Amino acid sequence: MTLRVGVIGLGLMGRHHTRVLHDLEHVTLAAVADPDPLARARATRGRDLHAYEDYRQMLDQEHLDLTIVAVPTSLHREVATTAMRAGAHVLIEKPIAATGAEALEIIAVAQECGRRIAVGHIERFNPAVVALKQRLARGELGKVFRLHARRMGPFPARIRDVGVVIDLATHDIDISRYLMASEPTRIYAETARRIHTDHEDMLSALLRFGNDALVQLDVNWLTPTKIREVNVTGERGMFTVNYLTQELTLFENNLPEDGAVDNAVISVVEGKMVRFRVEPKEPLRAELEDVISAIIEGRAPLVGPRDAYQALMIAEAIVSAGRTGDVVTMLPHEVLAFA
Ligand SMILES: NC(=O)c1ccc[n+]([C@@H]2O[C@H](COP(=O)([O-])OP(=O)(O)OC[C@H]3O[C@@H](n4cnc5c(N)ncnc54)[C@H](O)[C@@H]3O)[C@@H](O)[C@H]2O)c1
Repeated sequence: MTLRVGVIGLGLMGRHHTRVLHDLEHVTLAAVADPDPLARARATRGRDLHAYEDYRQMLDQEHLDLTIVAVPTSLHREVATTAMRAGAHVLIEKPIAATGAEALEIIAVAQECGRRIAVGHIERFNPAVVALKQRLARGELGKVFRLHARRMGPFPARIRDVGVVIDLATHDIDISRYLMASEPTRIYAETARRIHTDHEDMLSALLRFGNDALVQLDVNWLTPTKIREVNVTGERGMFTVNYLTQELTLFENNLPEDGAVDNAVISVVEGKMVRFRVEPKEPLRAELEDVISAIIEGRAPLVGPRDAYQALMIAEAIVSAGRTGDVVTMLPHEVLAFA
């Protein structure tokens, strides 16, 4: 089976989708759409595909099985719902929408039209994260104490519609929930706006999760070098993932004979450092392979609307905590409100 796929929005992310889709199996990249003629010319150069100025015309004419929604976040609702009403499944770039209310509208249309939604929380497909998740699920760290995510870099002038929490921290919120298989119960946050004209561009947040772990998020668009890291500390040591180099490292807690009493760790001693072999893979390719096989096999993609909505709700709570200075308490029923 071969899926007919279209890409809407040919900016930074849409260009990557177009490149990867062009040589994936079980896919015909049939058409692309963007009002910008330069973006269309770049995407079609050397490729046999139709380019449209108006994405609605593309949806009317191309009978697509899957549409990639890579327009600015504030347009996700309009474009994704139109694509699903035209009969296509959708892969929506992260975050699923600019607000929780818009995300719920997208999800309602998917249910009404019987279409699948995948959301581009691409870090789930980083091979170092995949390897870390497997090791945590096997209990290699024992009880998890804390997770510290650092995602920093220069200001991206093209992101105008949302702030750094909705745009970037949603990656780290999603990865925190995924790695710990738990949800936040209490949120403290400080945000600031230094360069962005309308939204926050710096976040320091502290969250307590239901598994009793503390999660610290340092995310900003103000750092002149790109840092993308997550550390997870537990009874048996600390794992570190560098998303950019796809490296997974363990700093072991060298437990002495008397370091554990009745299975409870009572000391921390510096031990071995182990760098695990991780087979490199482009996360976007792994993400698209998952979405394509999910549609062909009629199963849910790895990252669907529930996870994406949850990440967005938590991001909205962080924005609110940063704005008001209040501590936000999330009750289990709020966190799990959407099945
Ligand atoms: N997964 C990731 O790591 C990742 C990275 C970057 C961006 N993103 C997400 O991808 C989305 C796009 O971000 P970007 O960085 O590519 O932005 P961008 O500004 O580089 O590109 C957006 C493109 O959409 C086009 N566009 C605007 N209105 C349109 C319309 N009505 N129809 C068709 N095209 C239209 C613009 O002309 C532009 O070419 C955002 O939601 C962003 O959050 C995800």
